[in-house]
Amino acid sequence: MKLFSRVIKDYRDHAWLTPLLRTIDRRPMHCSLYVTDRCNLACGYCHEYDNRKPMPTFEQLRQRVDKVLDLGVSKIAFVGGEPLLHPELGPLIRHARQRGANTSISTNGHLLTAAKIDELAGAGLNGLQLSVDRLTPSAVSRKALSLVEDRIDLLNKAPFKFHLTTVMCADTVGDARAILEWAVARNIHVELRVMHADPGQCFRTTSAEQEDLFALIEEQRRLKAVGRSIHATSTILDFQAAILGRGRFDWTCLAGYKIFFVSGDGKFWLCSHRPTDLDILQVSTADLHGYAGRKGCEPHCGIYCAVNNSVFITSPTRFVAAELGPRFRQAVNMVLGRRQP
Ligand SMILES: C[S@@+](CC[C@H](N)C(=O)[O-])C[C@H]1O[C@@H](n2cnc3c(N)ncnc32)[C@H](O)[C@@H]1O
Repeated sequence: MKLFSRVIKDYRDHAWLTPLLRTIDRRPMHCSLYVTDRCNLACGYCHEYDNRKPMPTFEQLRQRVDKVLDLGVSKIAFVGGEPLLHPELGPLIRHARQRGANTSISTNGHLLTAAKIDELAGAGLNGLQLSVDRLTPSAVSRKALSLVEDRIDLLNKAPFKFHLTTVMCADTVGDARAILEWAVARNIHVELRVMHADPGQCFRTTSAEQEDLFALIEEQRRLKAVGRSIHATSTILDFQAAILGRGRFDWTCLAGYKIFFVSGDGKFWLCSHRPTDLDILQVSTADLHGYAGRKGCEPHCGIYCAVNNSVFITSPTRFVAAELGPRFRQAVNMVLGRRQP
């Protein structure tokens, strides 16, 4: 019974119909909205936080949520910085849910408590991404399994779905396989991702580590095929293999059109690497339509939500067909309680 409710939790919120409508209409689907630029951690490879920036007020964020929903967005990912630092994240999620949006957050989990999880669940949160990049903390990153393992126990009991994400760079790649195995052995959804930005060129992987990265992409593919708890889509696995020099992956980025970001100061961004100065409240549907074509940065992209959502929109049948078998086997494995890969 417990496993059955877990399967329901994982599958009920996929809300297939609205995303499918977005493949045939001209409205946007996904928005990543920064609720704050501030972060309680300072990972060496991360460039998505700035503690000097002011925290947006609830009213500012509510207006941004209303605006993106009026434009047609159906899924909002609340991101940061660290979103749990915002004292009114719960009410913001509740507001977005009352307006019919699917909501998720991405968090390092350090501020998660049982009471916070209850608050997020009560607000109607659909999904949570927990960032776990290492087994134990290092001088570079404190996103460590050892520091959040107790929160994972709490998340296992939460009514919303969650998954782990591990960024693979020189500081973390050595632990990635162990994190993958740890999660899969517990039927916890997990995704290992190649780092997307390294402006200081400090966390580049060596060619030997690149071999490891590719092996880890292939290991996720193998585990996914037999229905283990791999969160990454086949699209993302194919794309990462291509950026590691194995195979071709041709796609058109629909960032700015079907998927976009809203920065902590309320600016419309195509994605976290392509900012604009336009105030989101001034953006029109015609502005979005202007971004329907190729962007040119597709071959080097690391914004996985842009890749996933763009390919879903441009090739929905191929995208969904690749997911059906593995997701069905995942559900069966979860019901049967199979734990070892
Ligand atoms: C920037 S964080 C913000 C949200 C939240 N603080 C968290 O930890 O999930 C969002 C995700 O980006 C990842 N990230 C940080 N630096 C990255 C990089 N250079 N390349 C790829 N992903 C990165 C984080 O590990 C995390 O999974």
